[in-house]
Amino acid sequence: LNAIVAIHNTVLGPGLGGTRVWPHETFEAALTDVLRLSRGMTFKSAVAGMAFGGGKALIIANSKTDKTPALLEAYAEMLRGLKEVFVTAEDVGMTLADADFLKTLTPNVSGTTAGGSGNPSPVTAQGTFLGLKATVRHRFGSDDLSGLRVTVQGLGAVGWSLCEKLHEAGAALTVADIDAARVERAVSQFGADRADPKTIVMAGADVFAPCALGGVLSEQTIPRLKAGAVAGSANNQLARPEDAVRLQQRGILYAPDYVINAGGLVNVAAELAPGGYDRAAAMARVGEIPATLDRIFTLAKKGGATPVDVARAIARDRIAAKKAA
Ligand code: NAI
Repeated sequence: LNAIVAIHNTVLGPGLGGTRVWPHETFEAALTDVLRLSRGMTFKSAVAGMAFGGGKALIIANSKTDKTPALLEAYAEMLRGLKEVFVTAEDVGMTLADADFLKTLTPNVSGTTAGGSGNPSPVTAQGTFLGLKATVRHRFGSDDLSGLRVTVQGLGAVGWSLCEKLHEAGAALTVADIDAARVERAVSQFGADRADPKTIVMAGADVFAPCALGGVLSEQTIPRLKAGAVAGSANNQLARPEDAVRLQQRGILYAPDYVINAGGLVNVAAELAPGGYDRAAAMARVGEIPATLDRIFTLAKKGGATPVDVARAIARDRIAAKKAA
């Protein structure tokens, strides 16, 4: 087992974050990745009002060839030693079945299937949809999506479910995915326009919803972005922190990624509640995402700050208040 568990902050509670299985070429690259991801989880949990801190884990391995039961058993032993300070769930390269297997060996695993919270993606999509509506309301004055065009980059678990909701709400869609079959399905099912994955950022739309990769908003892409708002589920959408200012300068309203995509985290955290997983309670919590974004956008407008600055300040204040208590 070659793995790193990064625990960024435990002031609000044990670090909570998924375990990724990815064959990084060097240990340094893996460490940089997992540390950055664990920090993001601290902000995500804090802004969502969770009693968890930030953490993330990385097994440096190829999920298709190296992920044997023996490897997962060794990893479970590592997790057992960290059960007071870290709770994990599935992430890239892990499946719900892997989470179920780990749970038989150590208690600090969530996102399991038998009586657990199961697949987080539909919940993330619901939070992203509600957050997108809040963003549209701030940017365009009404959250009525009919007649608006939304560009969705990535038609995977979250992106597809988001498209279903947007289509139902009357939005027109432009979509791109490197998997052509998914694009064809979206064209026939939602009447979507197709865009080239390489140039989708430039497709004209009211809202751009990144639901594939990180780093899509950069010094190169922001000047060419043809949308009034960005609201999507992808993690780490900004290539660099100053890209938040670049978006603001162009009048593009940006819903901070870790605020709008917190639905999955809220769902996984709900499984760890004392009474066990309660779907209705989890969805009620996800329903708070638009109010959180409302507050962030209002404070940002008032203070001339970016929504990212405000979100970070909310997280820092919560952690500082808990520390002082
Ligand atoms: P997924 O792996 O199911 O879907 C990703 C989709 O993006 C795939 O269809 C893939 O073909 C497509 N894609 C990859 N590269 C592309 C490119 N260059 N251009 C266009 N499409 C491309 O992933 P999932 O679960 O839907 O997650 C989407 C994003 O949301 C990821 O950034 C993930 O980290 C983030 N996220 C997901 C959560 C969840 O609950 N699943 C929770 C929070 C964040």
